[in-house]
Order: sequence, then C-alpha cells, then structure tokens
Amino acid sequence: MITGVIMAGGKGERFWPKSRIKMPKQFLKLYGDRTMIQQTVDRLKRLMPIKNIFVVTNIDYAGLISDQIPELPTENILIEPMGKNTAACIGLAALHTERLDKDSIMVVVPSDHVIKDEETYLGVLKTAIEKAKSGNNLVTIGIKPLHPETGYGYINFRKITHEILNNNPVHKVERFVEKPDYDTAVKYVESGNYLWNSGMFIWKTSTILNAIKEYMPQLYSALNVIREHFDSDEIEKVLYEEYSKLESISIDYGIMEKAKNVYVVPGDFGWDDVGSWTSIERLYEKDENGNVIKGNVVSVDTKKCIITGSDKLIATLGIEDVIVVDTEDALLICSKDKAQNVKEILKELKEKN
Ligand code: GDD
Ligand code: MG
Repeated sequence: MITGVIMAGGKGERFWPKSRIKMPKQFLKLYGDRTMIQQTVDRLKRLMPIKNIFVVTNIDYAGLISDQIPELPTENILIEPMGKNTAACIGLAALHTERLDKDSIMVVVPSDHVIKDEETYLGVLKTAIEKAKSGNNLVTIGIKPLHPETGYGYINFRKITHEILNNNPVHKVERFVEKPDYDTAVKYVESGNYLWNSGMFIWKTSTILNAIKEYMPQLYSALNVIREHFDSDEIEKVLYEEYSKLESISIDYGIMEKAKNVYVVPGDFGWDDVGSWTSIERLYEKDENGNVIKGNVVSVDTKKCIITGSDKLIATLGIEDVIVVDTEDALLICSKDKAQNVKEILKELKEKN
C-alpha cells in the first residue's frame, strides 16, 4: 500500500508580507491557479487514493486545509499540538500509516514546492517507491545543484549507479549534510558529487520507525506512548504532554545525516522550493529590463526588480535589484541580496510587539 504524507506546518517566513503566520506559503497561489498545497495533493492523488493521504499540520491551519482540500477526510488531517519540526511530524504520520499497514510505503513531501514537469516527477517517485519497497531503505530525491544554496541539504552520492529501476538510476548515498556553510556549499557544488536534497522522502513505515528507534530514541518513546493512547479520550492531552518534552529537530539532522541505508534518485523536473522572493524570478517571465512585475505597476528606469501588488498603483523610478511587495496592510522594500533575511523583520516585529 502506498500512502502520502504532506508536511504542512511551516510558517513560510521568508515570504513575508504575502505569507503571514495566519496564511503561510503553502496556502498561497504562487505558481499556477491552485495553491501550493492543492497542487501537492493533486500530484499525490495520481499515485494513491485520497484516503491514503495525510496532511500534518497545527491547529491554526486545520481550517485552511479543509477549505482548500474539501475531499480530504477530516481524520486525515493530523494536528500537532505544537511545531517540533519535521522528525516529530513524520513520526506522528508513521503511527497513522502503520495503522493502515505496517509495511505501507510513505511518500513524504513538503507542501510548498513547485514542480513544473509532473510526468517526469511521477516517474522518479515510482522509482523511489520501488527502491523503498525492496528493503529497509531510506530513499530521497536529489536535484542537481545550481548554486551554493545554504538553506538545503546536500547529498554526496556514489557515482556508480547502484541499479536502474523503472528507467531511472538509483544511487547509494555516502553522506548527507544538512545546510552546510557557504564555503562548504561552494565546494560541494563544484565537486559534481553532490545533489540537493529536495526534502521528499520515501520509505516503508516500519523502516522509518526503526530508524527513529535507533537515532532518535526520545522521539521513539514519545511515539510509543502516543500509540498506546490513540483510541482513548486522553489522546489530545497525551499528544500535548509528549510533544512538550520533544526536542525540535528536523528529519534531516535527526535521521538522514546519521542513517546508513540511504539511497537517492536524481530527478530533473523543474523543482523549486520557492524559498524566498528571489525564487519568483525563476518562476515568472521577466520584462525586457529583467523585472518580474505583478499588479498595477508603472516602472521607469527600473532593472532586475521584483514588484508585486494588486490594484493600488505602484510606481518605481531609477531602482535596480530591489524587491517591492505591497499587500493590504504591509509593504516590503528589500534589497534583492537580502531576500533570505526577511525573517529578521519578523523577529524585529515580534520583539516590538
Ligand atoms: N507538520 C509540520 N510540523 N510540518 C512542518 C514542521 C512542523 O513542525 N516544520 C516544517 N514543516 C513542513 C514545512 O511546511 C515544509 O513543507 C516542510 O515541512 C519542510 O520544512 P522547511 O522548514 O521548509 O525545511 P527546509 O526548507 O528548511 O529544509 C528542508 O527542505 C529543503 C528543500 O526545500 C530539508 O529537507 C532540506 O534538506 C532540503 O534541502
Ligand atoms: Mg522549505
């Protein structure tokens, strides 16, 4: 049995002010006419029935999820009492997929990525699913790195193809390094032996639970307690108590950097994690001056800018490499090379309020 797990608890802070705590990136239409999470569900539905798809999130977003994906059974929205990053999110999901079948394959995906070539993507996923089925393997999907991005995980893979499945190569992973510093990332990109981790994982439920047992024993015991109380009236209280004790750690640091049985399927399907405003440039067409413009904008002597608004007229003159994002109640003006640091504005705002 194949199950899908969509991780949808992130706050998308680098997309402020369009993305808000109340309305993060996964619920926005940043590319195409469906929201990012709707597109994620649409893609997974081609591999499994909707009843096998779980969305893991927190209480603030449960309403948005049922509004945006009305066909998703309510019991498939898994609500975490607090965000403890992706290891806990995946562990909780595994308790649910295990109830369907302990050998079910989990296809774990983020809720906020763009995939332009869906057919190729589905082919790559099928390969990853076959590899996951064939043993106790943790399978990832790797993307050819284009620049030394420090916000990604890097996968050092054995050059010799391990096997070909469903017409795609599968490589053994030597090392997984989450979010290296800039100089290290430069070396990795130049070496040609690394792929970016796309943040998608495919494995058997029993395989990931075993990995959690081995590398994250604290999370494993919490999951055991939660499992025991699944059908009791106490479940919410137990979830809260167990989550409160957990360390906040991603699956990348918690498991992927440590595990040995990791494989990667390289994929080239127009992937973009739309991580910050600059990624908008890769998704939309530019005008003759290299600007990406959305909304009611008049730009004179304006080059390589990203300008988005709605009905209100935005006029720019004599600027270059600037991001302007106008929303109903907030306006961002930001130098393009600082797009990754938009999170700092949120920190400042929180401190002020
Ligand atoms: N339910 C839930 N709970 N979901 C979460 C939580 C949580 O506590 N934290 C994050 N998520 C969701 C986000 O909404 C997103 O869809 C996904 O999990 C990944 O989290 P991010 O916070 O976006 O991770 P990242 O971008 O820093 O890094 C990951 O993705 C990169 C590719 O985009 C890593 O896997 C990197 O190795 C990878 O390169
Ligand atoms: Mg991300």
